Amino acid sequence: MALVTGAGGGIGRGIARCLAEEGMALALADVVPAGAEAAAAEIEGGGGRAVALGLDVTRAGECRSAVEEVRSRLGGLHVVVNNAGVIGSPNLKLGLPLADLTEEDWDAAYAVNVKGVFLLCQAALPHLQAQRWGRIINISSRAGRDGRETIPHYSASKAAVIIFSQALAREAAPHGVTVNAICPGLIWSPMWERLAQLYRGKLPGLAGLSPREVFDHFVAQTPLRREQTPEDVGRAVAFLASEDARTITGQALLVDSGAVMH
Ligand SMILES: NC(=O)c1ccc[n+]([C@@H]2O[C@H](COP(=O)([O-])OP(=O)(O)OC[C@H]3O[C@@H](n4cnc5c(N)ncnc54)[C@H](O)[C@@H]3O)[C@@H](O)[C@H]2O)c1
Repeated sequence: MALVTGAGGGIGRGIARCLAEEGMALALADVVPAGAEAAAAEIEGGGGRAVALGLDVTRAGECRSAVEEVRSRLGGLHVVVNNAGVIGSPNLKLGLPLADLTEEDWDAAYAVNVKGVFLLCQAALPHLQAQRWGRIINISSRAGRDGRETIPHYSASKAAVIIFSQALAREAAPHGVTVNAICPGLIWSPMWERLAQLYRGKLPGLAGLSPREVFDHFVAQTPLRREQTPEDVGRAVAFLASEDARTITGQALLVDSGAVMH
């Protein structure tokens, strides 16, 4: 039984599909309840088991209630995937030069990407530890391994996810719970569409390109020259959630066409 946050978004849907293929019952949560419901309907339509949950991961009380609700509706909870994330506030400004970065974007990224991960881990950990088996998988980013000058606030928040995962991995290890991060590269999703529009107006050489062409421009700079699909991330999640990954903890796995190699 797995709980996936941000399940209504591009990558969340891919993670849900891959975990359902492994036969897992799913609780699909999103701050936009309609997104969670659409994701759950897709999984159920494909013969899987999924329930939808409205959840704002920045609220401690909602995280605690969500864990209880999942345990009672699915009959247990073994895998927690912290996938909900934002690139900034709804009025996102790129942070290049740094003078342009707003406090609003910094706070939005930290509230969801960092505090949200902390709160849901804190709510779920006692249950995972008590059953002496659990998997926590936190979705970081390539930007968390190699800071991007256009999105310094987001890069810093995703680096925080990696270090937090390591710290928690040490605490949880004696109780049979592993904690890992995944660092996706370039996935065409609503988040990237938004970013591409901003890059087009700010970076040289991109004027006149469509958002998708801007995205392709960045893909072409990676060693494998391949974008990642939501399922590329989903399969990595399924592996880390499996028994095959029982001796892997505290790691940050890059799924990024070789863009970052350290
Ligand atoms: N798209 C990429 O190229 C890329 C690359 C690296 C990492 N990531 C990370 O992958 C994750 C998923 O990104 P995506 O591309 O699918 O983005 P997305 O915008 O398509 O999906 C994000 C989902 O999170 C939900 N969400 C936002 N705030 C929330 C909150 N407070 N509580 C619960 N849900 C909330 C949104 O409603 C949305 O459904 C994010 O953590 C993102 O930072 C994405």
